[in-house]
Amino acid sequence: MKELAPQSAVTDHLAILSDAIRVRMLAVLEGRELTVTELCDVLQLPQSTVSRHLKTLSDGEWVVSRRDGTRRLYVLSVSEMESFPKELWEVVRDQVKHSSAASDDDRRLKHILAKRRTKSEEFFSSAAGQWNRLREELFGATSHLRAMVGFLDPEAVVGDLGCGTGNVSEWLAPFASRIIAVDDSKEMLKTAKQTLNGHRNVEVRHGSLEKLPIDNAELNVAVLMLVLHHLAEPQLALSEAARVLKRGGRVLILDMLSHDREDYRQTMGHVWLGFSEKQTGRWLSDAGFKDMRWRLLPPEAGARGPSLFVATARRA
Ligand SMILES: C[S@@+](CC[C@H](N)C(=O)[O-])C[C@H]1O[C@@H](n2cnc3c(N)ncnc32)[C@H](O)[C@@H]1O
Repeated sequence: MKELAPQSAVTDHLAILSDAIRVRMLAVLEGRELTVTELCDVLQLPQSTVSRHLKTLSDGEWVVSRRDGTRRLYVLSVSEMESFPKELWEVVRDQVKHSSAASDDDRRLKHILAKRRTKSEEFFSSAAGQWNRLREELFGATSHLRAMVGFLDPEAVVGDLGCGTGNVSEWLAPFASRIIAVDDSKEMLKTAKQTLNGHRNVEVRHGSLEKLPIDNAELNVAVLMLVLHHLAEPQLALSEAARVLKRGGRVLILDMLSHDREDYRQTMGHVWLGFSEKQTGRWLSDAGFKDMRWRLLPPEAGARGPSLFVATARRA
């Protein structure tokens, strides 16, 4: 049976809605946040009157407010209302929405909202040439790219294969259901464990990419970031990645495009001087992947290494 509102609540709500100004206020505040000054402009009323009615509406829990820097914003949030006041409001709103007062308020409201947009447009028309630098100054060079991890399916189990010091797993951990980070260097794993300490959904495992310590079809995503060029036989690691991925699961490779920096073999133990699109495609397809997508990454300012590519493919 439907739960009835107590009688005192019914009369309190009716008292609040018995005032024409409060009803106009609720109509303009429904689903949108406005400041007191904006409300004054829309309703063409002095601040003292608007503030007095807002207090009544706040006390009666018809509007909620929040602070935004130095200003306070008010809103009527229908989705958060209890069923009785919500139904009551729907009846009242239907009765007043075609009144001339409501149409006038609506016209002025549109004007106020357009003014907000103009302010933002004015800023961007003057900042167009500087926005990239400004964003970098405010939020760093990679914040927008880090946000892209949000596309990851929250149910995904991800393998960070050749995890090194664990910084890729650290980025992914808040967005994935579980991460299995694998590396064969005990020293790297020691650092990875420190980096990933506190991420309870990350498991660090010691093992080689040619014989992964991961069960068949345990992963939805396998990441091989800057690791293939270290392997004697990259094909073996890709076959292993295919084994531990579920059908339809995705592999993501970040690595260097073919280059001629021979010294990397000595200085960093590179076995391969990068890879071409053709080479990567052949190995992926031999390992049982399909739908390969291969893209060169645009060079980053200040980076001194060879060009990088990203390849993704789906486990067939
Ligand atoms: C250049 S680091 C990249 C680390 C990390 N993926 C990143 O992007 O920061 C390469 C890592 O692969 C690991 N590695 C190299 N060969 C491996 C193998 N056969 N099996 C497991 N890990 C390996 C190394 O120990 C090292 O930690």
